[in-house]
Amino acid sequence: MKDSKVTVPDILRMKKEGKRIPVLTAYDYPTARILDEEGIPVILVGDSVGMVVAGYETTLPVTLEEMIYHSRAVARARKRALLVADMPFLSYQVSPEEAKRNAGRLLKEGMAEAVKIEGGKGMAETIKALVEVDIPVMGHIGLTPQSIHRMGGYRWQGRSREEKERLLEDAKAVEDAGAFSIVLEGIPADVAGAITEALQIPTIGIGAGPHCDGQVLVLHDMLGLNPDFKPLFVKRYADLYQVIKGAIREYKKEVEGGLFPAEGFYITS
Ligand code: KIV
Repeated sequence: MKDSKVTVPDILRMKKEGKRIPVLTAYDYPTARILDEEGIPVILVGDSVGMVVAGYETTLPVTLEEMIYHSRAVARARKRALLVADMPFLSYQVSPEEAKRNAGRLLKEGMAEAVKIEGGKGMAETIKALVEVDIPVMGHIGLTPQSIHRMGGYRWQGRSREEKERLLEDAKAVEDAGAFSIVLEGIPADVAGAITEALQIPTIGIGAGPHCDGQVLVLHDMLGLNPDFKPLFVKRYADLYQVIKGAIREYKKEVEGGLFPAEGFYITS
């Protein structure tokens, strides 16, 4: 991957050149800085922020104002990565006009460079409307968390023949509407592979197996910040829950025992 700023055309080119695309979420300045410094080409300000940072049970309560706030924080740290911001529930479903206004705010105020919206065929008109005003769109199909009440929970999608066919049609509709990439979430690996082969735009998998063009994980999940959440598709690259707990325990002990602040951590007049 080049050292200069990553752009939407770069992401499309990566698929053509057979380069895999690592994507991670970030919601704040310090973690976005680390992702950017480590050369992650795409940072997603996901509405998962509502669950992993704000402690909601679903992504539905997240507001546009909150997404703008988090996107701005990430944008201040990001030098190189492409910044994609999620459009939260009800910010794009009402009408393509509203979607344009709200996506525009994510670019204008949130300093994002692209938006992600959930949905297939039913969202094609909206994706087209955004792309027509030069707002790049990342699609998202399969297990779409904003559809939790229709799905009846966070369940694998695309297991029956009919569902597989529908997913392929949805993916094509998203591509035809002009999206520059698409997230495939919570679907069988072979289905994700077939979609990846059928599309010109890169597929970014999460819980979708090894055949996608890229992979995305929620940062807090891969860093092990929530010990109670360990779905099949998440690999924990660290156990920050224990690391942070250890540091807090040590601090508490030292303050209680009069060991901190020690000499060197203060001045005298
Ligand atoms: O909100 C999010 O973090 C996402 C990713 C899991 C793809 O949509």
